[in-house]
Amino acid sequence: MPFDENYEDRIISSRTLGEDSEVEYSLRPRRLQEYIGQNKVKENMQVFIRAAKERNDPLDHVLLYGPPGLGKTTLAGIIANEMGVNIRVTSGPSIERAGDLAAILTGLAENDILFIDEIHRLSRNVEEVLYPAMEDYSLDIILGKGPGAHSVRLDLPRFTLIGATTRTGLLSAPLRDRFGVISRLELYSPEELDEIIRRSADILGTKIDATGSLEIGRRSRGTPRIANRLLKRVRDFAQVKGDGTITREIADEALNAMEIDAMGLDSIDRRMLLFIIENFGGGPVGLETLAASIGEDAGTIEDVYEPYLLQIGFLNRTPRGRMATAKAYAHFKIPFTTELRFDT
Ligand code: ADE
Repeated sequence: MPFDENYEDRIISSRTLGEDSEVEYSLRPRRLQEYIGQNKVKENMQVFIRAAKERNDPLDHVLLYGPPGLGKTTLAGIIANEMGVNIRVTSGPSIERAGDLAAILTGLAENDILFIDEIHRLSRNVEEVLYPAMEDYSLDIILGKGPGAHSVRLDLPRFTLIGATTRTGLLSAPLRDRFGVISRLELYSPEELDEIIRRSADILGTKIDATGSLEIGRRSRGTPRIANRLLKRVRDFAQVKGDGTITREIADEALNAMEIDAMGLDSIDRRMLLFIIENFGGGPVGLETLAASIGEDAGTIEDVYEPYLLQIGFLNRTPRGRMATAKAYAHFKIPFTTELRFDT
C-alpha cells in the first residue's frame, strides 16, 4: 500500500516512524496479561495457546487483521512468548523471491513462529511456496530447467505462520483459507487507551494524572501507536511549559498546538470531511473522487482514515459513496440540511 508524504508526516500517523521504534519496543507488552483491550481475541488466543501447548503441537496458523497501529506485531510477539517459542519477523514486501521464503522456512525450528507483516503484499510466486508449507509443512523445490526439470519435496519443521494485514479482503482466497484462526483487531476505546497511556507513562517515568491520560486517550483515534506517540509529545510540553506532570490542561494545550482537535481529528481528516460537506452537500462521494480530491491513495483512506471516522459516527459508507453524518456537521458547527444532500 503506498503511503504518501502527507501521511508519513502526520503526527498521528499510525505507521512506525524511525525515532519511535526503540521506545515503542520498550513499551510493548510481553505477556497476554499485560496486553490491554482486544478482549475477545485475547480470550480465544488463550484457549488456542493452552490447547496447543498441552498437545505439544504448534499453534494453528493465525491471520490478524485490522487498521495499522493496533498491535498486530505486538500480539504476535506475545503469542510467541506464551508458546515459549522463537519468532522470526518479516514482511510481505521484503520477501522478494520464492528462494528468500524457502531460506526463512528452512531456518525455523519445530513450533517456531514466522510473522509476516503486510502479508497481502507477497508476490504470487512467493505465495505459492507458502501453500504446501502451511498445509503439509513441506517445500517443493524445482531442480533443473526445461524437460529435465523435476521437483523434490523437502520436509519443514512444524511451524506457525502469523500473518498481518489491514483487510482480509486484500488476501487471495487460497491464502486466507489456509489460516485456522482469523482474528480482527478493533479500534480501542478511550478508556482502554487511557490505561495503555498510564502504563506507558509509568515505563517512561513520566507523571500523568487521570484527566491527562484520558484526554490523550480520547484524541488518539482508537490507536495505541498514536496514543504512545502523542504521550511523548505531550510529555515535552509538560516538561517545557509545566512542571513535568501531564494534566488535562497541558494535554489540551499540546494537542491543540499539534492541530489535533477535540475528537482526535487532524488536518487531513478535517479536509476530507469538509470536502464532502462543502463540495458534495454531505455526499455520497465515491472513494476515488475523495482520494483524488485530498491527494491520498484510496487504500490508505480505507485502511487509515475511514475506520476511525466510521467508529465515531462522522462518516457513513453507502453503496453510492461516502457520506458525512449530522454528527460531523455538528462538529464543524455547520447547519445540517438534508435538502442539499444528493441522496434525498
Ligand atoms: N501498547 C501497544 N498496544 C498495547 C496494548 N494493547 N496493551 C498494552 N500496551 C500496549
